[in-house]
Amino acid sequence: MGRKAMEEKEVLILAIESSCDETAAAVVRNGREVLSNVIASQIALHTQFGGVVPEIASRKHMEQINQVIASALKEAKVTLADITAIGVTYGPGLVGALLVGVAEAKAIAYAAKKPLVGVHHIEGHVAANFITRYPQKHAGDTLCQMTECPGWRLEPPFVCLIVSGGHTHLVIVKDYGEFEIIGRTRDDAAGEAFDKVARAVGLGYPGGPKIDQAARGGNPHAVEFPRAKVAGSPYDFSFSGLKSAVLNHINHARMTGEEICVPDLAASFQNAVVEALVGRSVQAAKEYGYDKLAIAGGVASNSALRAAMDRACKENGLRFHYPEPIFCTDNAAMIGAAAYYEYLKGTRHGWDLNAVPSLKLGEH
Ligand code: KG4
Ligand code: ZN
Repeated sequence: MGRKAMEEKEVLILAIESSCDETAAAVVRNGREVLSNVIASQIALHTQFGGVVPEIASRKHMEQINQVIASALKEAKVTLADITAIGVTYGPGLVGALLVGVAEAKAIAYAAKKPLVGVHHIEGHVAANFITRYPQKHAGDTLCQMTECPGWRLEPPFVCLIVSGGHTHLVIVKDYGEFEIIGRTRDDAAGEAFDKVARAVGLGYPGGPKIDQAARGGNPHAVEFPRAKVAGSPYDFSFSGLKSAVLNHINHARMTGEEICVPDLAASFQNAVVEALVGRSVQAAKEYGYDKLAIAGGVASNSALRAAMDRACKENGLRFHYPEPIFCTDNAAMIGAAAYYEYLKGTRHGWDLNAVPSLKLGEH
């Protein structure tokens, strides 16, 4: 059966995500419509340690996962019998955390006699862009081409900037689940830089949302931090120099008794990150000849990044797409969206599926 014919059948995916500190399950119809999206966050538990503690994460996943899955089915008003396939994140991530989701998915798939589809976590983040933003149908049959229009559907090929706590990649999404990586970070991931700077200025964990919030009252040009370029690799990123510059600025201020203006510092740091991300993404889309640009991953919910991307895309005649914030940070709906397209391609995993903590993008 061709993809078009397959797309017309109803496919319900029960998806499970447990790669880091969110225990999540969702039911997704035909890759785009989210029937339920349940997330049990462990953030409060890890905050006291200033970051995710792997052993605590896996123990908490074990405690929560059955309840989270039961809630996802209940909210979607379906039973296991209605589900077509089970999708699960099997890498990359924390091995002990991933294992809980993988073991659970295998057990359910085996008991309910459903196909098992293992999903790459980052492929899931990208697929968050396929989730329909508004459930209502667009008036009329023809799809409007305005990004703001509820009827607009993002389809490959497009360029995608993936920015999360562990990853910073610039990729061309050639087709569903097919990626060409054209840029990556040489050191810290964008989210990691946010988290480290937030910790240094005393904003706590997780830092991204705290910096985003603090920066709203600050001047993004108060401190001119360096913009690093990677020689010979126009699409690669480097954030460790910027992070060190912020730490030096803080130390210098402390030593000289100067008061640190947290909003100004947050806004200036954020502005430097956003400029690096937006500049390379737009340049890549233009140079490789794509007219659609999407963002994905936890940092994609950053308000300054979204505003700057939107502006730059408008100026350069590109269509900009971004997931709702709830689908940017870790969730299972995005895994359900990715699993759907993998399912259509025929991806099936056996009972020997294992957690792969350093799974590469594009590997199966
Ligand atoms: O995608 P994600 O939930 O988990 C990973 O797969 O890594 O991303 C988490 C990262 C954290 O570093 C967090 O600080 C960052 O995303 N983040 C943000 C914002 N919300 C989350 N960074 C900047 N601005 C935000 N609003
Ligand atoms: Zn993630």
